[in-house]
Amino acid sequence: MKRLLITIDGPSGAGKTTVSRILADRLGYRYIDTGALYRGVALAAISSGLNPDDDNGLEKLCNTLKISFVLDKKGLRLMLNDSDITDQIRTPEITMFASAVSARPVVRRFLLNLQRDLGKEKGVVFEGRDMGTVVFPGADVKFFLDASPKIRAKRRYKELKSINPQPLEAVERDMDRRDKNDSTRDLAPLKPAEDAIRIDSTNLSIKIVVERMATIIGTLA
Ligand code: DC
Repeated sequence: MKRLLITIDGPSGAGKTTVSRILADRLGYRYIDTGALYRGVALAAISSGLNPDDDNGLEKLCNTLKISFVLDKKGLRLMLNDSDITDQIRTPEITMFASAVSARPVVRRFLLNLQRDLGKEKGVVFEGRDMGTVVFPGADVKFFLDASPKIRAKRRYKELKSINPQPLEAVERDMDRRDKNDSTRDLAPLKPAEDAIRIDSTNLSIKIVVERMATIIGTLA
């Protein structure tokens, strides 16, 4: 069967991560969470005491950064200069900082090359905001997964409960700010690619979303 490059874009809380993981597993594909890469840069920038709009500082930082994914017993881990940072990148501070640095051209350029390298071998599901529009405009299948803001905030709230509990109102407020940042920035804003297949998961279970995607992919592979 032909191995494909599949992209899943959409706002936070739409279900991208869960769906991408299950889909990649089912197809025997690799899964790449590109948001984690922006979070990795954010963590490095915070550790270096940089402001998110310090382009010179960010450029110097990116030139020294080695970010990669490795698969170990615990699953897919994010490595920054040989340290495992997977468990450090889900705090509210990193979340907002990642959204801010993701608007900086120097950071996007750095990660664009890295992501394209990761996509050289087909058989991969890429999850992010600009996968189908900018990073892989020629992807074999593009999905845009969305849901109502209320439902997305509720999902995020539940997700954070076990790792970093936040009041629902705080989750809603942060998500609203991040939606605005991510979709109104000049460079690679969050939006569906013209040829993306849109799925609204507001009233759909994960299982149904995955089934729909798998059916569509099955007709192309
Ligand atoms: O998917 P996430 O919440 O982990 O992403 C963190 C931030 O990274 C998000 O607010 C926007 C940015 N991002 C991006 O600009 N482009 C991507 N392809 C993925 C994430």
